Amino acid sequence: MAARKASVDDRETHRRLLQYWKRGQSAYCEVRDSKIHGRGVYASRFIPAETPIIEYFGERIGQAESDRRGVRQQKKAGQTGDAAVYIFTLSKNFSIDGDFPWNTARLINHSCNPNCEAWIVGRKIIIHALRDIHPGEELTYDYGFDVDCYEDHPCRCGSADCKGYIVSRGQWAELEERLNARPSNER
Ligand SMILES: C[S@@+](CC[C@H](N)C(=O)[O-])C[C@H]1O[C@@H](n2cnc3c(N)ncnc32)[C@H](O)[C@@H]1O
Ligand SMILES: [Zn+2]
Repeated sequence: MAARKASVDDRETHRRLLQYWKRGQSAYCEVRDSKIHGRGVYASRFIPAETPIIEYFGERIGQAESDRRGVRQQKKAGQTGDAAVYIFTLSKNFSIDGDFPWNTARLINHSCNPNCEAWIVGRKIIIHALRDIHPGEELTYDYGFDVDCYEDHPCRCGSADCKGYIVSRGQWAELEERLNARPSNER
């Protein structure tokens, strides 16, 4: 087999990918199969409350591009049966698209009783610990999905106070009203 000598461009691409890969990792956590869904991210050591754990590292994009990619990811998600959309709103004008293999934080699952929260720090999204987290615990945060599409997102977080659907905590009262308004044979 004949091998081609790596060009300057190849080496630059490799250097950049390595940089991205390192930025998407954290000494606090690792990826494992999850009981909640698919793969998840787990604490690999003790994490004190309020620790910045890992960056949700993707590409910063403007609103029009964010809308385009959101629709594309939604369509793909519909085909695979997953609700995997990786756009995080940064501000009125900008979002982060985290749909990249080096973005480990994209694998963090939702929980109705989460131990993490996503904070906007300047132009970055950083996942912080909401409380002390022990080694082996799965990291989770509130996806903050809108109650209007609750039926599309059943929740399997397994926490004692699971609402049954992935809906932002701020809309739980509204969710309860809608669930109670359903015919009794559908509850
Ligand atoms: C951003 S991904 C998270 C990583 C995902 N576990 C994986 O392996 O790709 C979002 C996907 O995980 C699923 N998911 C996350 N949290 C969930 C939960 N609490 N219950 C059910 N599915 C969940 C969603 O349905 C969605 O398809
Ligand atoms: Zn839940």
